[in-house]
Amino acid sequence: DKKVTLNTIARMKGVEPITMVTAYDALFAQLFDGEVEMILVGDSLNMSFFGKEDTLSATMDQMIYHTQAVCNGAKKACVVFDMPFGTYITPKVALENATRVYRETCAQAVKIEGGREKADIVRTLSENGIAVVAHIGLMPQHVRSEGGYRVRGKDEEDIKRLLEDALELEAAGAVMILIEGVKAKAAKAVTDAVKVPTVGIGAGNVTDGQVLVWSDMFGFFEAFTPKFVKQYCNGAKEVREGLEQYVNEVKSRAFPDEEHSY
Ligand code: KIV
Ligand code: NA
Repeated sequence: DKKVTLNTIARMKGVEPITMVTAYDALFAQLFDGEVEMILVGDSLNMSFFGKEDTLSATMDQMIYHTQAVCNGAKKACVVFDMPFGTYITPKVALENATRVYRETCAQAVKIEGGREKADIVRTLSENGIAVVAHIGLMPQHVRSEGGYRVRGKDEEDIKRLLEDALELEAAGAVMILIEGVKAKAAKAVTDAVKVPTVGIGAGNVTDGQVLVWSDMFGFFEAFTPKFVKQYCNGAKEVREGLEQYVNEVKSRAFPDEEHSY
């Protein structure tokens, strides 16, 4: 396999579903590399790795550090950097912060949450040579202002709104639309309308690709499990069983045995 570029991804629309997972460090990025086309360094790491209630307090410095780690492990996958809350409040601020991403990491695109109101930001970044993934639908960075995580696209009016958002973001230069937490009908309408690929999470099986948060899909994050998460491993259980065995063996002096001693 060779390096997956944004061109590779663009060509996959309508041909083959795009696979994407999150990663926050080199160890897991290396495990995922060569298996998935894309790796997202999501600000979800603020919850799953840093232990916060929501994603809002993630900083540029943290995200850059984790992206550098992912880049050390992922040599083939197309890496996407998730712009944290408050780092793209104006086109100028967004450009300054996104420029850092290209200068300091291997990320090939940045992701920002928002609809048509973010089109000028997407345009500024695109015109300055920075590729943008636009994240629409349920937007975790709005959890406080909206008082929770709201599934979108439940009626025709909202589907129309999401569709118009996607079209404006595409016109502004977005290279991909990430659609989170919407009814499949809405995700289908967007996917059919835009020429760029769509990647869904909690958006049904109608998008051009899928993304999941690795700690959710492998059963490590137990605080809560959204309906859309399928657990492909029972990570926490495996680790707990292994740890219990280790503790027992140390307590009983069964470990280290002859085989594991010099
Ligand atoms: O931060 C993240 O992991 C994300 C995904 C949920 C798409 O934005
Ligand atoms: Na995110």
